[in-house]
Formats: sequence, structure tokens, C-alpha cells
Amino acid sequence: MKLISRSAAGAAFLLLLHCCPIANILGQKSDSALTVVENTEGREGGGADEEAEVTVDEGDLEVVQPTEDWQTLKPGQAVPAGSHVRLNLQTGQREVRLGEEQLKYWTQEHRETEEVQSTISPDELKQAMKKMKEDLSPDTVRSQYRPLEELKRDLAQLDLLVETDVQIMKRLLDQFNSSNSTTEQKLSVLLELEYLVHQVDNAQTLCSMGGLQLIVGSLNSTDFRLQESSAFVLGSAVSSNPVVQVKAVESGALQTLLTILATAQPLGVKKKVLFAVASLLRNFPYAQHHFLSHGGLQVLSELFRADGGGVLRTRIVTMLYDMISEKELISQAGLDLMLDASHEERVRQYSKVSLQGELLEKGWCNLVPQLLESTEHDYREKALRALLAMAPMCLDHYRSDGSLLGSLLSLRDQYQEMVQSEMIVGEENGYFAEIVELINALQVKMKL
Ligand SMILES: *[C@@H]1O[C@H](CO)[C@@H](O)[C@H](O)[C@H]1NC(C)=O
Ligand SMILES: *[C@@H]1O[C@H](CO)[C@@H](O)[C@H](O)[C@H]1NC(C)=O
Ligand SMILES: *[C@@H]1O[C@H](CO)[C@@H](O)[C@H](O)[C@H]1NC(C)=O
Repeated sequence: MKLISRSAAGAAFLLLLHCCPIANILGQKSDSALTVVENTEGREGGGADEEAEVTVDEGDLEVVQPTEDWQTLKPGQAVPAGSHVRLNLQTGQREVRLGEEQLKYWTQEHRETEEVQSTISPDELKQAMKKMKEDLSPDTVRSQYRPLEELKRDLAQLDLLVETDVQIMKRLLDQFNSSNSTTEQKLSVLLELEYLVHQVDNAQTLCSMGGLQLIVGSLNSTDFRLQESSAFVLGSAVSSNPVVQVKAVESGALQTLLTILATAQPLGVKKKVLFAVASLLRNFPYAQHHFLSHGGLQVLSELFRADGGGVLRTRIVTMLYDMISEKELISQAGLDLMLDASHEERVRQYSKVSLQGELLEKGWCNLVPQLLESTEHDYREKALRALLAMAPMCLDHYRSDGSLLGSLLSLRDQYQEMVQSEMIVGEENGYFAEIVELINALQVKMKL
């Protein structure tokens, strides 16, 4: 089943296409693609002679001509006014098809322009542009048609035809909550919800509909696939969405996520659950405090030790790095003079997040160096950044860690050699040079 979505962004997109055929193209192309030169002479005299000249550089335009069937739109492509554009939730791509009621706007009401052709010629664009300006000018009261009124009516019809995000989410949640739905159906509901909750207000609506509770509840499902997808929806819903972060913590999501991490689960579930935990904790000192006091670092350290492949290790180390630097940034901001009123409160809250002490206590000063043994450059880089961030509390451990010292020496040799070959290829400030700098910085700290 295909779904028609009318998200807020989608609505704006539709509106643009509908009322101003050229605006979409303008928005996507450089200034030189289309230039509008307005002739203001005669405007004061009632505008009878008002004219707009449009010059079109046709070379850059790529206009898709819709047909009866849905076609996928590529980025940068434009469509003529009146087209039906929808978002295919399965593929995440925009699709276009000939519109019907919208087509009237172009063909019937504006019949004096050319018939719809297989391509839009620069002439047509000029005409359309000119017409658009006329339509938007108050003088059109005198004209035989009232396109803006038409437009409103058509849009009202559209509202009836197209489901809003709120309606879609209601329908999805009903389906998800129904005892009749199969696991496959629930999984596909979660996939669609995951897409929708990237929009801040959609995620908040999900909460007010009681959907968050359902998602958090299904984290406890006995089906791993449902657990994984629920964690994915939760993580996306709380990402950069403080309101939903609070609601999620209130609904007990954090404990449930930690419980899942602490029990044996497939890698896919753990990855998505880690994603949800990291998103839940970001910029949220209360949740971080909660995480620490509920043994979060202990759970992560067990996960770290058990992960041979390094995928989870890297994600965990990145998460720790983010938490350390976030706290560091807040305390550094205290040195600035430009402070907002809430700064003091933020400092107070972060001071209760006893991250450093916990990291020391749970043995992270010796765990993170193990990630350097990975063969992936990216994993090593993440490890080095975290080691640097942890240096203030871990220096003593680093200095007495023989294998860390050995790793740093051999990695430095290895990367310096690679930097030499990078230079031969002509990339002076390349990635490997960055890694050498990280290693150097760490060694300097350790010698001080
Ligand atoms: C389940 O399906 C049956 C028959 O298809 C229907 O009568 C019933 O109302 C459904 N129950 C729910 C909870 O949707
Ligand atoms: C889910 O269904 C139960 C009853 O089966 C109902 O009480 C609850 O309100 C429903 N939740 C949502 C979010 O629709
Ligand atoms: C998940 O299950 C655990 C124990 O089985 C329970 O403590 C927790 O409250 C449940 N979480 C939710 C959201 O139902």
C-alpha cells in the first residue's frame, strides 16, 4: 500500500508548485538560471501597463513532465504547476504524476497560454512568470478569473484529499495498537513512524497521542525485530527534541533501554538501543545523571568488553566523548561574558553529573585504549579523541599502561609513514596527518 503524506514541508512544497510554477525552479537554481526584471514604469497609474520581463536561461532547467503514472523525482528537478507531488514513504523519494483538479489552474483557467506540452519551453516559463505576477497584483480584480480564489478552493480540496501527518500518525498508532495486526504490519508501521518523527512537532504529537508509551512498551517485546525498530523510532523522536526527551525519560524509557543493553541481544538491537540512549542523553543533564545512577556506565563497560568487532565499542566511546565534551563546553562557557539567564542553572545541573568520577571508577581509563587495537582508522581516531578528552582524569592510568604507550609509538610510526605517501599524492593536510596530530597531542600530555 502506498501512502500519501502531507508533512508540513510537503505542504509548503505542494503550495509552491501549485501557486508559483517558477518559484520551485528559482529556489533550486543559481541566480543566473532565471532572472526577473521588473518594469516599474506605469505602476502608479493603476498598473494597466504593468509588465514583467522575464529572461530565462534555459540551459540549467530540468523540468519533468508528469504522466498518468507516478515517476520518481531526482534532486534538482522541477515540475510544472498543477502536478501531484507526493512523498513515497517506502523509498523516501518524491514522486510526481499529472494532477487533475490542480491541472485546471494551468489548462482551463489559463487556456490562453499554450496547451500542456511534453516540455516546458522558455516562452512558457516567461508567460507563467508574467501571469504569476499579474495574479499576485491587486489589479487582477478586474480580470475575468480570480486565480487566488481558485487556488484557495483547490487547496481546501487538497486538504480533504490528502491525509495530514496527524491523521497518518493516528491511523498508524491504531494499527500498531490493534491486536489484529501482525508483526510484519507493526514493523512497517514503525518504519513509517520513524520517518515522521524526524519533524519536531510530529514527535511531540506522537507523545500527546499516547504513542510514545506504545513505542516504549514495545521495546519490551519478545520479538527482536520489534525491539530494534521501536528503539529506532524512539531514538529519532528524541533527537534534538527536548520536549520528547523529557517525556521519554518520564515514561521510563531509560531503564528499559539499559535493561535491554544488559541482557544478551542481537547486535542490531544493541546498535539501535545505543542510538536511542545516546540521543536521549544528549544535552539533557537530568537524563545523564539518571543514566549514571542507574549503572549505565557499568552496562556500557560490559558491552564494551564483550564486543569483539569494535562496532559497539566505537559507538560507546563516541558517546562517552560526546558527554565529556558537552560538560566541558558548559563549564568553558562560564568564562565567557555573554551568559544567558539559564546558564547558572545549566552549570548547576551538569555539576551533578558525576561523569569523571564514574569513568575512573568503572575502569574506562584502561578500556578506551583497547579500541586502538582495532584495524579501522576511523575507530582509532575516535579512540584518540576520547583518550584526549579523558586525559585530565586518566593521565596516571595512561602513564602506567604499557600497552597504550606501545600502541601510540607504533601507530605514530605507521601514520607518519602514511602521511609521507599522502604528501606524495599531494594531500598535505590529510586525514592521516590529523591522526598523527592527535597522537602527538596525547603524548605531550602524558609527558607533562
Ligand atoms: C479484528 O478483526 C475482526 C475481523 O476482521 C474485527 O471484527 C475486529 O473488530 C478487529 N479487532 C480490532 C481490535 O481491531
Ligand atoms: C491502545 O489500546 C488500548 C485498549 O486496547 C487503549 O486503552 C489505549 O488507549 C490504546 N492506545 C493508543 C495510543 O491508541
Ligand atoms: C519492561 O520490562 C521490565 C521487566 O520485565 C519492566 O520492569 C519494565 O517496566 C518494562 N517496561 C515497559 C516500558 O513496559
